[in-house]
Amino acid sequence: MSENSRVKAVHDAYLKQFHAKPELIVRAPGRVNLIGEHTDYNEGFVFPVAIDREMIIAASKNDTGKVIAYSLDYNETDSFNLNETGKSAEHPWADYMRGVVHTLQKRKFVVGGFTALLSGNVPQGAGLSSSAAYEVAVVTLCNEFNNLSINGKDTALIAQQAENEFIGVQCGIMDQFISALAEEDSALMIDCRSLDYRVVPLKLAAKGCSIVITNSGVRRGLVDSEYNARRAECSQGVQLLSKLTGKKMNSLRDVELTEFDKHSAKLSDKVARRCRHVISENKRVTDAVSALENADLESFGKLMNASHTSLRDDFEVSCPEVDQIVELSQKHPGVLGARMTGAGFGGCTVAIVANDAIDSFRARVIPVYEQSSGRKAEVYVCASTAGASLIAGVPA
Ligand code: GLA
Repeated sequence: MSENSRVKAVHDAYLKQFHAKPELIVRAPGRVNLIGEHTDYNEGFVFPVAIDREMIIAASKNDTGKVIAYSLDYNETDSFNLNETGKSAEHPWADYMRGVVHTLQKRKFVVGGFTALLSGNVPQGAGLSSSAAYEVAVVTLCNEFNNLSINGKDTALIAQQAENEFIGVQCGIMDQFISALAEEDSALMIDCRSLDYRVVPLKLAAKGCSIVITNSGVRRGLVDSEYNARRAECSQGVQLLSKLTGKKMNSLRDVELTEFDKHSAKLSDKVARRCRHVISENKRVTDAVSALENADLESFGKLMNASHTSLRDDFEVSCPEVDQIVELSQKHPGVLGARMTGAGFGGCTVAIVANDAIDSFRARVIPVYEQSSGRKAEVYVCASTAGASLIAGVPA
């Protein structure tokens, strides 16, 4: 279904559910990260794009002091008072709505009641940031209804705060940032320390290539506990390297690869590998951005491949199924580079594929994977879209 028809479906469903037209409709996209994984919470660099999978919310203000939210996807309604601070016992899908409304008020923004209908098509648990899309859409909606003058960066920070504090997932800033600030046909190189960013045009169509995402069908298990463990191992690395170098360090961003190599033997093998991944990944991001800017997709692809090896062997966040898709992809003619994307432990891979090789990719890579893993894979050839926006007017 195209975006226009999804918007129309959400609009019509609102009309049917609440017997009135919505005052506004907002959308916010999911994302795929091209390179720079597990670097955001280490104050490093990331290079994501927003994809044409998104959360759409239709809403009108109400004066009941409540939020009434109907999920079209779950066919359920949650209703809560604006001053409530807890999660929903029956409707976990509503916690992102509750979390953002609560976080805004915690930051002293005055938020009025509203009635909303939501529907998303970012696959859940696949590492494509369905929750960031949802959170950013709710901030965008509340911003508009209450004239809060929240800019794109703060939209991302508020959405991240809701995820960290209300949902309880200690994610970095990447997913919410790209969902709020993406530009069409471009990736953002984000400096996760300063939150400065650069819009880098992809122009993949002109280069005869596409971004191809393959969902392994492995729902990310373990992700929260392992994610937190990786964060802790990285912090441990920073402390030890600070001592060893006698340099005050805030994060692995402060360490150069050459400096790290001098001291790595004094770290435990595990901590050394975690640090090596992050430090080398930061360098790969800056190299990859230069390669893209020089229209050198071949080098860009090689850096994606190297990123996967580092995530698999040093950071240990891949899984056998994802490794297999990556390996098959990398060997397929016309694939410039492939890697796991997102937090890991299942979910998706991302590849840059020549357009004339996409059909053979589907025909050869996917069946081999499905046969050996016994799982169903899905392939999305995605467009790179703009970040969160209001949809003006109601579709005809
Ligand atoms: C998840 C988190 C992000 C980032 C990635 C790994 O998507 O939400 O903040 O840490 O994992 O790069």
